[in-house]
Amino acid sequence: VLGASSTIKCEASVYEEAVETAELDWDNLGFGLVPTDYMYIMKCSQNGIFTEGELRQYGPIELSPSSGVLNYGQGLFEGLKAYRKEDGSILLFRPEENALRMRMGAERMCMPSPTVEQFLDAIKLTVLANKRWVPPTGKGSLYIRPLLIGSGAVLGLSPAPEYTFLIFVSPVGNYFKEGLAPINLVVENDFHRATPGGTGGVKTIGNYASVLKAQKKAKENGYSDALYLDSTHKKYLEEVSSCNIFVVKNKVISTPEIKGTILPGITRKSIIDVARGQGYQVEERAVSVEELLDADEVFCTGTAVVVSPVGSITYLGRRVEYGNKGVGTVSQELYSALTRLQMGLAEDIMGWTLQI
Ligand code: COI
Repeated sequence: VLGASSTIKCEASVYEEAVETAELDWDNLGFGLVPTDYMYIMKCSQNGIFTEGELRQYGPIELSPSSGVLNYGQGLFEGLKAYRKEDGSILLFRPEENALRMRMGAERMCMPSPTVEQFLDAIKLTVLANKRWVPPTGKGSLYIRPLLIGSGAVLGLSPAPEYTFLIFVSPVGNYFKEGLAPINLVVENDFHRATPGGTGGVKTIGNYASVLKAQKKAKENGYSDALYLDSTHKKYLEEVSSCNIFVVKNKVISTPEIKGTILPGITRKSIIDVARGQGYQVEERAVSVEELLDADEVFCTGTAVVVSPVGSITYLGRRVEYGNKGVGTVSQELYSALTRLQMGLAEDIMGWTLQI
């Protein structure tokens, strides 16, 4: 019933599947950590094979001070969401895509990774063990955070001798404090998120630490987040600190192509397919920063941000506004189409959702 494979330890005594919903102010969820009941842990040493994963009470983990992740940043993370349907069942959205992306990132970071089957089994087990934290329909989702870290001890620079795959979860609502209202971005001119040949195309933890300074500066100046340009020409859009970006002009939707410096977002990829399915022309190409100046609409996509309309972008001191202070029609249409699918309110002809 738990979808656990033979490699996952799951005695009945480990946890009791709670039937009721946790006590929480479900109407006021933001994107902050709400500790839940269980986390999942699976380890692997030199042979590169993960075995014997298990659920544990959510809480601190023990880590060597000389672990690869703490000293040299050998770590990856993922993000996906579980939604509660009106009939009480739970839907995951494209979890195998996260499993595959983690495997791709692990290869880049010289780490072994769980198989797709191990990843999926572990996700299902963790979500079901924390079922009471999945928000009621329409109130948010359960954010699932898988981590893969070099937990073994190193001193000289080398891949760690042991790895830990961990999953924790938290109920969440809207990512930006603006809620569903349009966000205000500023184009970052001093810092870059990624460089050609670097790790911008994988979900390694360092990519997120390195944008904190620009994000902090943006917030201090009253913006929601920073938008990065390519580091070679300082001319083409890359992404926002926590999400991908799309530009709409004359009903044509454009987004920066995947070329190693941009995170291949699962929401990005899904929105491209959803938009094409709705009859839009979608182009994946180099999108220059000047195109922002006369765009009809701009929106961001990501697991955490879903589809976030952009109300304004400031570039070299010049502010351009979109959507007449409201949500643009294309952003609204794509947001509704995607979230209806994720919540099980629209027919899933793509086979993207997994009921557990
Ligand atoms: C996500 O959207 O799931 C991410 O991993 C971005 C993170 C900065 C919240």
